[in-house]
Amino acid sequence: PRSIWLSRHGESEYNLTKQIGGDADLTKNGQAYAKLLPELLIKSGLPTDEKIVVWTSTLKRTNQTAKHVVEELGYSKLEWKALDEIDGGICDHMTYAEIKKKYPEDFARRDEDKYNYRYPGGESYYDVVKRLEPIIMELERGGNVMIITHQAVLRCIWAYFNETGSDKSPWVKIPLHTLFKLTPRAYGNKVEEFASGV
Ligand code: F6P
Repeated sequence: PRSIWLSRHGESEYNLTKQIGGDADLTKNGQAYAKLLPELLIKSGLPTDEKIVVWTSTLKRTNQTAKHVVEELGYSKLEWKALDEIDGGICDHMTYAEIKKKYPEDFARRDEDKYNYRYPGGESYYDVVKRLEPIIMELERGGNVMIITHQAVLRCIWAYFNETGSDKSPWVKIPLHTLFKLTPRAYGNKVEEFASGV
């Protein structure tokens, strides 16, 4: 059966400073993950003669993560705005500590109902799920696609394929520098995890 490969982008400068959103570059560590990604994909059981398509967001950090996979394995790449990270609105570029201090009520409300909480001028997880509909439709037509995207977006895609409820989906732990291989099956999709060690 066909598979879908999923990964967050490599570590970015904002991951280090703990700022949300933005359009930061990868760190040295993040670049090391991008370099390892072709090898990790082959290790996950992708035949070397089989071409897959790599989908990224429009942001620098996912494109930089796709660089070696595209250049070394010769895969084609497609950028989707729908794969961009959740829009933090007025909180974009801030750290959680800063948000808590400046907008304590918003911070508490998000914690209470993370799925439905919408950042002022930005998005909720529900909004992200809505804009992912065309992506999900394309995936349902047949796999052999690799998606390099962001934490919140990956949680939503993950939740769709693993039937995770909306109370839990915004909290699913999806570590950096880890490749996931999802193989759709009639009874429960198969999920395999490949840590890069970076
Ligand atoms: O911190 C990285 C990040 O991708 C942010 O850009 C984004 O706002 C956040 O994760 C989403 O995770 P959470 O919904 O847990 O805040």
